[in-house]
Amino acid sequence: MAADDRTVHEDDRSDRDDVLRLLRTGTAAEHDAVERTLDLLDPRLDRARLGAALALMHGFWIAAERGLDEWAARLPGEAAAVDWPRRRRAELFAADLRALGTGAPAGVPELPAVPGTDEALGRLYVLEGSTLGGTFIDRHLATLPALSGVRIGAFSPYGDRTGAMWAAFRRATRAHVAAGGDVDRIVSAARETFATLAAWCAPAACSEEVPA
Ligand code: HEM
Repeated sequence: MAADDRTVHEDDRSDRDDVLRLLRTGTAAEHDAVERTLDLLDPRLDRARLGAALALMHGFWIAAERGLDEWAARLPGEAAAVDWPRRRRAELFAADLRALGTGAPAGVPELPAVPGTDEALGRLYVLEGSTLGGTFIDRHLATLPALSGVRIGAFSPYGDRTGAMWAAFRRATRAHVAAGGDVDRIVSAARETFATLAAWCAPAACSEEVPA
């Protein structure tokens, strides 16, 4: 899905400096790279390829949450403002891998430390935004005979509260900026997080073989 095809966020459009708008435009290329590499909307997706993608995502989430847990331990009030404990998700990927019965452990990538709330919100943007695409992915998985009987939970961790959780994240991020947060630091943390994810997922890319 090209960035332009994604749902228009009316409230981002009124203000060119809006942090959520800058996050979306500033990471669109990295998002497209990840989406293309994982190719989870492929009608030929099978258990082995889904397992490989989930194993990579599991490793990435472990690393990403480790940094956020350290930030939350240092700044518990700021972490509570964004409801951090409820947003942890690495365990859901582990459960999905068990349910699928496939997907070798992929290890964990190296991510930068999370020194402050600017960097935490940039990283959280990447993790939380994935629940939006996750609802499309879930719907697609439900149509694949190869996955019948398997319930995958990590893509849509909030079920019918996806919109509410995303709206709350956006409110908390804007409130942080209004209180003096640094937009450039937030956006560069998001880009760094996304770029690490794109590089980490590269082994999952299917080669586009053209028949002779
Ligand atoms: C692999 C298949 C993926 C597909 C098909 C996909 C698709 C989408 C779609 C359709 C949206 C827009 C939804 C809406 O606006 O209502 C979206 C948003 C988003 N996705 Fe993905 N996505 C994928 C993977 C990921 C991954 C792995 C991440 C990060 C871990 C991610 C992060 C985001 C973010 C941050 C947004 C929010 C953009 C914004 O509106 O600010 N996506 N995705």
